[in-house]
Amino acid sequence: MSLELEIDKRKTFGIISHPDAGKTTLTEKLLLFGGAIQVAGAVKNNKITKTATSDFMEIEKQRGISVATSVMAFDYKNKLVNILDTPGHRDFAEDTFRTLTAVDSVILVIDCVKGVEAQTRRLMEVCRMRNTPVIVFINKLDRDGKDPFDLLDELEEELSISVRPLSWPINMGRDFKGVYLLHNQSLNIFEASKTRKATDYTKVEDLSDGILDELVGERDANQLREDVELIEGVYEPFDESLYKEGLLAPVFFGSAVNNFGVQELLDTFIQIAPGPQPRHTDKREVEPDESKFTGFVFKIHANLDPKHRDRIAFLRVCSGEFKRNKFYHQVRLDKDLKFSNPYNFLAQSKNVIDSAFPGDVIGLYDTGNFKIGDTLTEGEEMMYKGIPSFSPEIFKEVINLDPMKSKQLEKGIEQLTDEGVAQLFRQDPGNRKYIGVVGELQFEVIQYRLEHEYSAKCRFEALAFHKACWMTGDKDKIDAFCQYRPKEIVVDKDGNRVYLASSPYVLQMARSNNPDVTFHETSEFKV
Ligand code: G4P
Repeated sequence: MSLELEIDKRKTFGIISHPDAGKTTLTEKLLLFGGAIQVAGAVKNNKITKTATSDFMEIEKQRGISVATSVMAFDYKNKLVNILDTPGHRDFAEDTFRTLTAVDSVILVIDCVKGVEAQTRRLMEVCRMRNTPVIVFINKLDRDGKDPFDLLDELEEELSISVRPLSWPINMGRDFKGVYLLHNQSLNIFEASKTRKATDYTKVEDLSDGILDELVGERDANQLREDVELIEGVYEPFDESLYKEGLLAPVFFGSAVNNFGVQELLDTFIQIAPGPQPRHTDKREVEPDESKFTGFVFKIHANLDPKHRDRIAFLRVCSGEFKRNKFYHQVRLDKDLKFSNPYNFLAQSKNVIDSAFPGDVIGLYDTGNFKIGDTLTEGEEMMYKGIPSFSPEIFKEVINLDPMKSKQLEKGIEQLTDEGVAQLFRQDPGNRKYIGVVGELQFEVIQYRLEHEYSAKCRFEALAFHKACWMTGDKDKIDAFCQYRPKEIVVDKDGNRVYLASSPYVLQMARSNNPDVTFHETSEFKV
């Protein structure tokens, strides 16, 4: 098959949601409808249990499961669909943000009872930064939720994106009757079932047709007529190009656990979701159909077996064809590497592959050559952009508990932060090490892994910082600013100076007293 056809076949996306909205359930149902798995329950374990704060073995076990299911590929209607899993747990939010740099679109799951939630907002901010196209799935219609019009208003207001319903619910909760598909004028009648796979649609082109009253009852039929009239009056017809620009999100309603509304979501996704998109590097934009292979690492996962220190780097192919056993250029290290066992991920299994194409995500065994954001090319010196570090929210100092093992500790901290488990800052001058994370859980993971994988012991001492800010602007002004705050200025892993602000007020003051310096809360300022 030609490169163009391979590219045309692929759709790579992520499912995002606030924890508990139904991301895992929907992922599983998409795999079920896509024929990739035969029974429900296969993906269920792929999340860090909400209560797992101290059961380290459990974390380890779950990390293992998530390697296998971090990427799930399946064929559907002649397309190759790649779902990239994003951890729902808040403490792993940074991992999710980075995974979003490797997708071409997302499906956002909203719980109809809760509406837009904190994590939804943050994830959507990341999508908006990159103009990632979004399809919204409003879930749990079998429960009494918010009014659908209110939900749409909430989405528009809170997520700064226009929306357009493509299906519409008929009642909710115990009286939920189904959805009317506005784009092909048919009814999907609700039936609570966790096992059904096929969807029967009833064509109702004219809503004044009495068949509607027969199917859903007169009261609900009239309500639907009224609602649809309002929708057609208020919302512009769905414009696919606005969706592709990330400005307009089509909205579907359903109930994932009941396999309801999933078929139309998947069918529309296949039709409208963008294929592999061009991507920016620090030198130029790269088109997927360029003949030379390029790709970048967006995730690094430690090997589960502590006896083997090797890791798995997840690489998104951006252009050309990746080939097994061919030498590629690791730009940051200026080193040529070849991979004898690259693999892809098919639902539950891993398979060694001979080649991969734009949109694909492959796993590369890594013995310490990769850092998140690393780029592979056929020789061109350029780095992919858009893998930002977000400011951590909790900071602690690493205190070595075993002076005989300081080398191991150093190495462990270096490698774990390369994996993106946490961010490392150093005091300069000095060698105090600060770790910044999004959630407390990461400290436990780090401590556990340092001990088990590197035989190093440490404890963490809390630091009263609130945000890490990267600075740009007038160099002399930045120097002057840093000079007066030796305790608050640290250096990140790439050698950038970072200001640690102790409170929102202090940061605000720094901003207003230093108009020539810009303080950024992410390490990459333009993606
Ligand atoms: P997440 O990955 O976004 O965190 O959510 P997940 O799919 O795990 O779903 C969270 C809970 O919501 C699960 O219940 C799941 O069964 C339920 N759920 C998902 N879709 C629907 C739906 O359409 N309607 C209703 N009523 N519930 C739904 P749980 O009790 O946490 O787990 P389980 O014991 O049911 O597996």
